[in-house]
Amino acid sequence: MLHILFIFALLFSSSVDAADFCVAKLKGAGSPSGYACRPPTKVTADDFVFSGLGVAGNTSNIISAAVTPAFVQQFPGTNGLGISAARLDLAPGGVVPMHTHPAATELLCVTAGKIQAGFISSSANQVYVKTLNTGDVMLFPQGLLHFQINAGGKPAAAIVSFNSPEPGLQITDFALFANDLPTDLVVKTTFLDAATVKKLKGVLGGTG
Ligand SMILES: *[C@@H]1O[C@H](CO)[C@@H](O)[C@H](O)[C@H]1NC(C)=O
Repeated sequence: MLHILFIFALLFSSSVDAADFCVAKLKGAGSPSGYACRPPTKVTADDFVFSGLGVAGNTSNIISAAVTPAFVQQFPGTNGLGISAARLDLAPGGVVPMHTHPAATELLCVTAGKIQAGFISSSANQVYVKTLNTGDVMLFPQGLLHFQINAGGKPAAAIVSFNSPEPGLQITDFALFANDLPTDLVVKTTFLDAATVKKLKGVLGGTG
C-alpha cells in the first residue's frame, strides 16, 4: 500500500514539474534550442493563438507572392514545441523561387486555387513535382530545395506548417545574386556566364 502511494506521489510530482509549454520571452537571446520561457503565471490563452493567417499577404512584388509567417518571432507560443505555420499567397504568375528551410520539413495545404509545387532530392537529384488543387496537402522534406508556382489564372493560397518554430529560409537566387559575392566567383561556382550573373544581380539588388 505504502509503495503504491509512493509511486502515485512520484507520478503526480513529475506531471506537476514537467513544463507543458515554454512561451518565448523574445526580449532575451534566442539559441538553437529556442528562447527562455515566460513565467507560466504571465501566459494566457492568447499566447496559443495567432490571428492573421486569414488575411492575404501583399503580392505586389517581383515574385508576385507573399509569405505571412507565424514563426516563433510572431507566435511566441510555438517556442520549444517543434512546430510553426505560415500563409502563402500567390497572385496569377506568382512564384516562390527555389529555396530551402534548413531546419524544418514543410507540409503545405492548398486553401484556394491551384499550386504547382515540387522538391529535389539531395541523394539523386530526383524531382518530385505535382499540380495541387484546393484541399491537397504536400510534404517537402527538411532541407531540400523546393518551389511553389501559381498554376491557375486566379489567386492561390496555402497554409503551411513546419516542424520547427524557426524553419529558416534560404532562397537560392538571393543567395547567389542578391549580395556582394563577386561576379567571377558566381561564374566559377555556377558555370553561368558573366552577363547572366550581372543581369540577375541587377534584378535582385546584388553588387560586385
Ligand atoms: C503592397 O505593396 C506595394 C509595394 O510595396 C505597395 O505599393 C502597396 O501600397 C501595398 N498594398 C497594400 C494594400 O498594402
